Amino acid sequence: MAKSVKWWKNAVVYQIYPRSFQDSNGDGIGDLKGIEQRLPYLQELGIDVIWISPIFRSPMEDNGYDISDYYQVDPIFGTNEDMDSLICEAGKRGIKIILDLVVNHCSDEHEWFQRAVEDENSKEAAYFYFVRTKDGKEPNNWRSNFGGSVWSKLKDGRWYYHTFSPKQPDLNWENPLLRQEIYKMINWWMEKGIAGFRIDAITFIKKDLTFASVEMDDKKRYPVENLENYPGIEKFLQELKKETFDKFDCLTVAEAPGVDEESFESYAGESGYFSMIFDFSWENMEEEADKSKPEAVERLKKRIFNSQCFNSRHGWCGVFLENHDQSRCLNKYLEEKDRNRYSASALATLYFFLHGTPYIYEGQEIGMKNAKWNSIDEMMDVRAKITWKERVEQGEDGQEVLKYFSELGRDNARTPMQWNDSENAGFTTGKPWMKVQENYREINVAKQQNETDSLLAYYKKLIKLRKCEKLADVMSKGDFCPVFEEKEGMIAYKRTYADKEALVLVNLLNQDQILSWEWGTGKEILLNNYKDIRMQDQKIVFYPYQAIVL
Ligand code: NOJ
Repeated sequence: MAKSVKWWKNAVVYQIYPRSFQDSNGDGIGDLKGIEQRLPYLQELGIDVIWISPIFRSPMEDNGYDISDYYQVDPIFGTNEDMDSLICEAGKRGIKIILDLVVNHCSDEHEWFQRAVEDENSKEAAYFYFVRTKDGKEPNNWRSNFGGSVWSKLKDGRWYYHTFSPKQPDLNWENPLLRQEIYKMINWWMEKGIAGFRIDAITFIKKDLTFASVEMDDKKRYPVENLENYPGIEKFLQELKKETFDKFDCLTVAEAPGVDEESFESYAGESGYFSMIFDFSWENMEEEADKSKPEAVERLKKRIFNSQCFNSRHGWCGVFLENHDQSRCLNKYLEEKDRNRYSASALATLYFFLHGTPYIYEGQEIGMKNAKWNSIDEMMDVRAKITWKERVEQGEDGQEVLKYFSELGRDNARTPMQWNDSENAGFTTGKPWMKVQENYREINVAKQQNETDSLLAYYKKLIKLRKCEKLADVMSKGDFCPVFEEKEGMIAYKRTYADKEALVLVNLLNQDQILSWEWGTGKEILLNNYKDIRMQDQKIVFYPYQAIVL
């Protein structure tokens, strides 16, 4: 008998950064009730799953990626009852909820860490990495993800390890009691009726325990080879899966930096540790100067094709243009003059039919852009703040560092969702925790709901098509194959299954392009971000940023 297709292969996921989505009680911070109020919008959009970034109790050093109680919703987001209600109401609309699982580290305000600090011999002290050094100096030269050392010192002289901020001590996965605590908590949430987890920074859970210093140049953020996907991690991940995820028909998507081709299948293959991992291979388009140019499109094409050709044969990925750690895709891939409804819908079409499950980040569907930052004080991100201070202390010009974060900083994705043109974009009746972008009167949901050819309307079509019966097998089981690879400025591919074929053609340049390819017969236009298709001698003459699905 043919194996049944996992439900999440035909799902579309929508990511919510809860602080910035919708405030319901006027405190200026988004919350669970706010998400519940917006369920009709999400249902109308057509998505199947909501991934909510962390909502657990937290001192909010890193906006919830520093958890002090895994069993409680933080009061700023609401209550555990609000979560039950959200799961139930979303369920009625056919929407599943997945939560963010942050178990590489917790908060220094978690009771485990507090007990570990108080008593060096407590059971909890073994839940973390503590080291004493003979000379009292830090144990090695490893640098943390957020700048500064991975080590911070306690008053009693012990050093503790943190991959991220000092307020995010790493959990010691070598300890079996700690692992059991984590599994218990995961199963508790699963039994409440969530549909799975997005798993944070999971490839950091195994370290090179020699903690030997390594040679590092200034550009290197941290010694990747000693702490990302380090050998031995497979034992933890197999056990995690067996003790938790295997018991449920759930979606697990891991943030897994450092997973190479060799280990990809063990993470994201048919019987991998997770349903899928995020494909980060085309996340960074760091060469700024040639944005929007053919060279940049060629580079993007190469990265997408390389990873798709490999991944589609070995496993399953989450594909995305944006998330809460990235700048907005319109800024990332396009020069300012080229950011419009056509280019935005072209980018959307480009990734939506790739092999994998598509993720949409809040605001992406209306074309939200990076914010304008006047000073570092406007930024809220702990990473930007720590790194800015560090670099300025090292003699760099503050304005230059600000420029870097204005372009690439995480706050760009975290400004409040733009719902309408009323004060604070309809996000809150209070004072928003983070500034609302000035462009909210032009870019907002309400406006686009009234326009038949808005980006929002296009996303609705896109989602409907991605999920339609006709394409179901092609999307969940089909092969991936690049086409017209040599055509500069175009990204085109085929998805095929049995006798069915979907052809995606995207002109990613701001100029007309003719494709030397005979249209032939038997084709159906499934999607087009322009009103028509121009033909000349049986060949398509693409408009600037035209995207067509056949
Ligand atoms: C990755 C998350 O996406 C990011 O927002 C967070 O700061 C780090 N992991 C630490 O949890």
